[in-house]
Amino acid sequence: EKGGWDSFMDKEIHEEPAAVQRTLFGRLDEDGNINLDEVHIDEHDFKAVDKIIVIGCGTASYAGMVAKYAIEHWVRIPVEVELAHEFRYRDPILTPRTLVVAISQSGETMDTLMALRHAREQGSKVLAICNTQGASIPRESDAVLYTHAGPEVAVASTKAFVAQITAAYILGLYLAQLKGAVFRDEIHQTLDSLKAMPQKIQWVLDTQPPRVARAAEQLADANSFLFLGRHVGYPVALEGALKLKEIAYTFTEGFAAGELKHGPIALVDEGEPVVFIVPPERGRNILHAKVISGIEEVKARGAFIIAVAEEGDKDVERYADIIFWRPQCPTLMSPLVDVVPLQLLAMDMAKQKGYDVDKPRNLAKSVTVE
Ligand code: M6R
Repeated sequence: EKGGWDSFMDKEIHEEPAAVQRTLFGRLDEDGNINLDEVHIDEHDFKAVDKIIVIGCGTASYAGMVAKYAIEHWVRIPVEVELAHEFRYRDPILTPRTLVVAISQSGETMDTLMALRHAREQGSKVLAICNTQGASIPRESDAVLYTHAGPEVAVASTKAFVAQITAAYILGLYLAQLKGAVFRDEIHQTLDSLKAMPQKIQWVLDTQPPRVARAAEQLADANSFLFLGRHVGYPVALEGALKLKEIAYTFTEGFAAGELKHGPIALVDEGEPVVFIVPPERGRNILHAKVISGIEEVKARGAFIIAVAEEGDKDVERYADIIFWRPQCPTLMSPLVDVVPLQLLAMDMAKQKGYDVDKPRNLAKSVTVE
């Protein structure tokens, strides 16, 4: 069933272009508008939404964090993202105008299920973004937007993550369309960028694995890794850190690059591997320069720099010891490609150590207890 791959994780990473494509497919009509007839929430209710709270655990929560940046930008309503177990037991403010978006690959995560039950009891509508047809979470939600990533077997979530971001983006653009928050042209342009992403992920899969494999060999003896990013690169950093701890059992920490001088830089010592997610749009994106200055700071303290950056980024070439390249794309689309080399790195490092990448110790594919 592994279709020639030596692990499900490897196979599932290579299915990411198809996962994004299938999640987009059928949700765009001939005029290029988003059609979400499948989502059984009344247009009036959707239009009335004045706050979104995204809930999930682990990787699903990071997909939610990515979506926050995009949806707030497009729809201009506040989006909060919260770990489902924290949300459930803190008396959250919920009204009938709050849309709760529950993200879950398995659809059986008990923490997320308990949180969505709580939200519905308070009168909020719940929309599930789920990869498993007919699972408990979509069954108990008011509406569901399925990710069509196909079954995910490896415990470490990979293709579900990119499909979750895609589905959340479709939801965000749909709300923007409905509320007239963004000009039609901008929505169409954004959809075009989204439609181009499967090809760009494919480019990463076609060109970057040898680089990643070399990096994994070079870093085999490292005891700890730091992952840093800003804006949508921040949740990607958290996801990269999670992958590496889950399957290679390496101590990792991910944080917002802007936090460096507020504490974490104290951890940086000679040879410490630090992974930076460098934003695209060099010259046009103020965050690019800020991340580069973070790189300079840790480099000056002897860190070993691994960067995910846009092809041809000269600033990164100057400082980084290892670079994983991304093809050009808008900032909001970059998580869909940037996560790929980080997933591959975790997998290669785990394989090198002789671990079972599909079934890491102590973890279950779906966590059905609170
Ligand atoms: O099935 P779910 O998406 O609800 O699962 C949520 C988390 O348990 C899951 O993403 C977990 O963090 C993965 N093992 C990450 O690789």
